[in-house]
This record gives sequence, C-alpha cells and structure tokens, in this order.
Amino acid sequence: MDYSAAKALLEKYNQSHLLEYYGELDGESRRRLLSGIADIDFAAFENLTFHRKKEVGALSPADTVSLEEIEKNREEYYKTGLDAIKKGKVAAVLLAGGQGTRLGINAPKGTFNIGVNKWLSIFECQMRDLLRVAERAGFYPHLFIMTSVINDGQTRAFFKDNNYFGYDGGKIHFYMQKTAPAVSFEGKILLQEKCAPVLTPNGNGGWYSSLIEAGCGKLINDEGIEWLNVYGVDNVLQKICDPVFLGATLSSGLACSGKVVKKVNAEEKVGVLCKEDGLSTIVEYYEMPDRYKYETDAAGQLVYRYGVTLNYFFNVKKLNEVCASPLPYHLAEKKINCIKDGKVFIPEKPNGYKLETLTVDLVKLMGGCLGFEVVREKEFAPVKNMTGADSVDTARALLIKNGVQI
Ligand code: UTP
Repeated sequence: MDYSAAKALLEKYNQSHLLEYYGELDGESRRRLLSGIADIDFAAFENLTFHRKKEVGALSPADTVSLEEIEKNREEYYKTGLDAIKKGKVAAVLLAGGQGTRLGINAPKGTFNIGVNKWLSIFECQMRDLLRVAERAGFYPHLFIMTSVINDGQTRAFFKDNNYFGYDGGKIHFYMQKTAPAVSFEGKILLQEKCAPVLTPNGNGGWYSSLIEAGCGKLINDEGIEWLNVYGVDNVLQKICDPVFLGATLSSGLACSGKVVKKVNAEEKVGVLCKEDGLSTIVEYYEMPDRYKYETDAAGQLVYRYGVTLNYFFNVKKLNEVCASPLPYHLAEKKINCIKDGKVFIPEKPNGYKLETLTVDLVKLMGGCLGFEVVREKEFAPVKNMTGADSVDTARALLIKNGVQI
C-alpha cells in the first residue's frame, strides 16, 4: 500500500492520525507503517459501538444434564465417548493466546509454577489429564494449541523443553491467533511506535477461523475429526476430552455443549448458560437483569444457576457452516502503552480498549448448547489473579483437596 492509498483509507475510517509522524520517519519505518495499516481489518470497526450497553431479551433456562442425570447414565455416556475418542473423532484445542494481565507474569500463563514443594506448571497439570484419557483410549487425540504473537515462541519452547510432558509430540500442533488494533476511548487506533499501531491478541473467539487460516483444516478433514474440545489455559482442574461429557454431547444430538458449575450465589461474576429468545446463549454477569439474576424455582434454587467454565465441545461440520461470517468485537478496558504527544506514554489507569472476539459468541451460533454439570471443587480451579478470588492461592488449595501433590 502506498502513502496516498493509506491516506484515503484512513480518512474513510476517521483514523488519519496514524500518519501524524510519517514525515519524521526513515524509508524503512515508512514501509513498516504502511504495511501495518494495510494489515488492519478496518471493516470490523464499522460495527463497533462504543460504551454500548447490551439489552438482554427474554431468558429461559438452558438444556442441561444435571449431576444426578449424569450419574444415572454415566456408564453409557462413558462407553459412547471413549469409543469416539478411540476412533480418532475428537481433538482438543487449548486456548493459550491470552495476555494474562491480571496474573501479571512476564511469560505464558501455562508456564506458571502452581507447585509449592515441587515444580508443576499449569501446562503440565492439564497435559497429565489429557495423557490419562489417551492411555485409557489407547489413542492420542490431536491437540491444537492456540498461541498469540505475544507468547508463541516461549510456549513452543516450553513444550519442547519439557518433552511434551510425555505426550506424543507428533500429535501437538501450535498455531497463532490473529491480532486487532487497540483503540483510545474515542475509538482512535493507538500507536505503539511512531511507525506501528498497537496490535494485541484478538480475543479467544477467533480460535476456529485462526485454526483454519493456519492450514489445520486439512488435518482435521484427513483424520476424520468430528468434534473439537476447546478449553482455557486457566483451569488447573480442567478435564480434557472427558469421555462422559462427550458421550452426553453425542446423545443430546446438539452440535455444542459446555461444562457448567452451580454458581456460588446470584452475584458470582461468571457467564450463565441459558436461552435468550429461545436460543442458547451465555449471558455475562454484568448483562444479567436482576429479575433473572435472583429468580428461584420451587425448590429454592436459582433458575439461572449454571456458570460456564470454558470447556466446550464443538461439532466441526456445524462450525464450518457458522464460521463463514466474522464474530463481533467486544471492547475490553485496558492500560495500553502508546505514543502520546510524540513520546512513549505508560498509563497508570485504563486509557483505551482492546478489541476481543469471544468464544461465547460462537456458542450462540451453534443452534443449541447442552449444559453438562460438573462438581465445582473437582473440576473448576481458575487461575486469574495472584491472590484473592480465582487465584493461585485458591487453585493450589483445590489441587491439594483433589489429592494432587504440589
Ligand atoms: P481471559 O479472559 O482470562 O484473558 O482468557 P487473559 O488474556 O488470559 O487474561 P487477562 O484478562 O488479561 O487477565 C480466558 C482464556 O482465553 C484465552 C486465555 O489464554 C484463556 O485460556 N485467550 C484469551 C486467548 O487464547 N486469546 C485471547 O486473545 C484472549
């Protein structure tokens, strides 16, 4: 892209300030800036509404299999699920492209040592679980690991240095998610250097389109993979390719399912799996109107009691149908280092938005999502912060409770 094309494009989208320092730049920096501008998906900006508050439609509870129902059918679900794993119909997708800003470590979150008396990384905790399933099935499911421009090299090196935690290295495939520009509160793209916009990982919703763009669609097709088990790096009690969960999903006839836990109370800050205007969805805690948030049934339980844990099954055929159009961007308030008045500015409070696509938006497109209830203390130990709620401390306590030597 040359200067005049960039100028016209930026004028169209009200982003002309990106060329503010063009006159000061040398030839190489000018080329870098123009190529950075050419890479930005400006069309995505058109649908952004800043400071938008979402209106929630009419809610009803999700189709969910409760702990009691699962217990009744456990054996049958297990057999069905394990059989599908043996036949290679299932692969796992680890979402590990996040920045982990709340945890605040300068390395991929999965490399964090959750051990106390011994070294135990979050990645190792999760790989041990997948290994157990592979051994039971006598088959190693493929594992796709989504990284981002921020942590790709370190993540690959960590797996290699740890000999893939005893997993079949040939079955592990890394791919990088895409980036999106960060913007000021007024919607202006921020500059990281005078010759480069701020680009950050574009959220966890783009995992499937990035997987396909990385060329992994051929492997999925050639290997006959029909289901993808998508999970977050945060949870150290994550159960991956869980045969019982898979069996329940297959029996439901739905193209999507998610592991859910009972909320601790109505106020817990977790997305709730339910239906909105009859369609499966996840309503974020800050979007849930009070009339639904506190509603109870005849047994005194919350009607909207199932919180999501970022562990989903997605049917590949259905994904191929729904991923043709891009997901919307959400705005996440962040502190973003940038160029201000010609100098590097390091903010002390949030000064703009990161643009993120969310997996929950993909769930909405799947035409139905089965909730699969799991016992919180056994399967949900998120590591978001160093201390306090959902922290290293709470996760360590839960690992110990589950008999894991740390
Ligand atoms: P979070 O929403 O906790 O975001 O991610 P984060 O970036 O890891 O952490 P904070 O908010 O900055 O503290 C939930 C899951 O989605 C993945 C994360 O790696 C985690 O498994 N994720 C998030 C991505 O893979 N890519 C992203 O762009 C964002």
